[in-house]
Amino acid sequence: MVNNPTIQSSLRLRAVVAGTGSSVPAKVMTNEDFMKIVDTSDEWIVTRTGIRERHIAGPQDTTATLAAQAARNALERAGMKPEEIELIIVATVTPEMVFPSTACFVQAMLGASNAWAFDLNAACSGFVYSLSIAQQFLSSGRYRTALVIGAETLSRITNYKDRSSCILFGDGAGAVVLKAVSSGPEGIMYSTSFSDGSSWEALKCQAYGSRHPVSIPLENPDMVYMDINGREVYHTAVRRIVELVNECLEKCDLQVEDIAMFIPHQMNARIIESVGKRLRFADEKIFINIDKYGNTSAASIPIALDECCRTGKVKSGDIVLLVAFGGGLTWGANVIQM
Ligand code: ACO
Repeated sequence: MVNNPTIQSSLRLRAVVAGTGSSVPAKVMTNEDFMKIVDTSDEWIVTRTGIRERHIAGPQDTTATLAAQAARNALERAGMKPEEIELIIVATVTPEMVFPSTACFVQAMLGASNAWAFDLNAACSGFVYSLSIAQQFLSSGRYRTALVIGAETLSRITNYKDRSSCILFGDGAGAVVLKAVSSGPEGIMYSTSFSDGSSWEALKCQAYGSRHPVSIPLENPDMVYMDINGREVYHTAVRRIVELVNECLEKCDLQVEDIAMFIPHQMNARIIESVGKRLRFADEKIFINIDKYGNTSAASIPIALDECCRTGKVKSGDIVLLVAFGGGLTWGANVIQM
């Protein structure tokens, strides 16, 4: 099934998934709840996005607490202790603070005292970018273990007066423990990443950074919230995701039928379905859980992967294809044999 000679080399170290985990806040916000605060309907939201409910951070939840809990669950499934982790990457656009990094908070919460830790901001593509970086460190032999986390509290930067965006977002975290091994499953077989900074305006949250510092009054107070050009993003996302999937299949010498589960960023069920159809994935191989979580940006793929593993939809030896598109603009993918 895997014919690429560079992939088959038995001497090569593989970055293999040892465990997955996730964590979402207890509070659930349904479409009916949104009908009380903006002019919308359950029918509009479900038809246009596929979302029925999302989890929203409570006062005690932060990006780091969600990330740390997802990590604990992944470590437990991997049968590993926090001290065994050598590298922690947290992908997020809703960090704990400007600095220190969320990853440093997670390291401290876990007691992962032998790891170095940093954050990565690639919006919704953050988790696939982070996997590709961890893959390089593990397959080169530089580190033996890594914890890759996608975590968000998007509710903290959501404009609950803007009906076209507020209904989309949820909070949560997902994590993967990676190990460098020289036998067993292939692990991360291929990663690819792209960005186009010239289209930054399509998806953004402008305050407070160096361009719009807290010391200067904002031209528009809504600049503290996420602002999305949904229609533009929709069409570009479909095109880029199709390109990514075709590239991954070609580079790994795989057919669509070889993919046990296509796990795209949960941006919009309509986008996922139209891409899945265009690429001829069988319906049961297209994973969608946006109905329960909304769009959780960098957290959406690891939450989905964890659900697939926990429910047996993805089993050991299966090949999964992770694909993301998001602010930056950024896009990327990983092919993984579990
Ligand atoms: N309820 C009812 N009506 C609504 C709502 C709502 N919540 N929101 C918008 N509408 C109305 C609009 O006002 C518009 O009305 P009009 O025709 O009278 O002007 C109509 O519905 C259609 O609006 P569109 O924006 O054209 O709706 P569309 O079908 O494009 O769906 C959506 C909008 C769901 C946002 C879609 O474009 C989308 O999913 N885009 C991609 C999402 C995205 O950008 N995700 C990335 C976010 S960034 C990140 O993940 C961190």
